[in-house]
Amino acid sequence: TTRGKGGDFDELIATDKRIEPRDAMPDDYRKTLIRQIAQHAHSEIIGMQPEGNWITRAPSLRRKAILMAKVQDEAGHGLYLYSAAETLGVDRAELLDKLHSGRQRYSSIFNYPTLTWADAGAIGWLVDGAAIMNQVPLCRCSYGPYARAMIRVCKEESFHQRQGFDILWTLVRGTDGQQAMAQDAANRWWWPSLMMFGPPDTGEAAKGGHTEQSMAWGIKRFSNDELRQKFIDMTVPQAQKLGLTLPDPDLRWNEERGHWDFGEIDWDEFKAVLRGDGACNDQRIAHRLAAHNDGAWVREAATAYADKSSAREEG
Ligand code: 3HC
Repeated sequence: TTRGKGGDFDELIATDKRIEPRDAMPDDYRKTLIRQIAQHAHSEIIGMQPEGNWITRAPSLRRKAILMAKVQDEAGHGLYLYSAAETLGVDRAELLDKLHSGRQRYSSIFNYPTLTWADAGAIGWLVDGAAIMNQVPLCRCSYGPYARAMIRVCKEESFHQRQGFDILWTLVRGTDGQQAMAQDAANRWWWPSLMMFGPPDTGEAAKGGHTEQSMAWGIKRFSNDELRQKFIDMTVPQAQKLGLTLPDPDLRWNEERGHWDFGEIDWDEFKAVLRGDGACNDQRIAHRLAAHNDGAWVREAATAYADKSSAREEG
């Protein structure tokens, strides 16, 4: 049954209450949360790589310090989210093993390369902007530990988005070469950022999706297309402020709809990246695996120390 101390699961969901770790819950609710929270955590950890690539080459000490703080935040978000996943009865070692062996995903966006310093700006502005759009509703997710983790994460994400916008704001008011670098980064990061919100709600590419069930369980508060549209509506005016042209000739304000119309997203590219054929898939996992193996001695030492301390306490 799904009757727990907090009352019946369906009743809690119907009355928009929080589900806590000790509450009874359907296996599929637990499974889809483990899947989503783990993949969210994996995205944060892998997401450290594209921007980390520019820490040693940031154009000033100030930019380097800001980027280091941001990448460090991403690591913290990942660890926070692994802890949230562990409240569902899984162990992070098992989740990492699934990431390393390709049995769990991380966000498609991190399989694109960061070719210039402007990419550090585009990631902050577009990728963290999209992440905020997706993460704010998750603060109201029905699963307590996930929703509470999101509140802290969202606060830090807004700093990430601001620093990205600020990098581009500086570049677009710089030399012609710097303006061109910012435009090139916007060209390369715009469409992949729209794909971060997941497949469309309808049509061929929507098949096998989780949206309907996740919305019924109060995990998803908006559909993928709704959040994508909100992100586009928020971001187009920012691009105009930056004087950057977004790479979509079909982008135009639709007075009737009260939203920006936009062109077709290349779902074949999305599927290819998810299949592992993105520009950086192999490199990202190889780097992750190397870091994991290099860090084994730290995990062993920490475990040995913890065992010794608890033996001393019991002794
Ligand atoms: N990248 C990789 N896989 C994706 C994806 C993407 N952008 N969008 C969807 N998918 C996968 C889903 O995981 C699912 O595959 P699975 O069944 O094997 O897990 C399939 O495509 C169908 O997609 P759905 O939309 O039906 O799946 P979800 O209901 O899980 O919705 C989601 C996808 C909107 C990404 C949702 O999982 C979510 O909100 N996740 C939490 C937020 C998150 O993970 N953000 C990733 C970026 S984190 C980040 O950017 C941090 C920043 O600080 C740098």
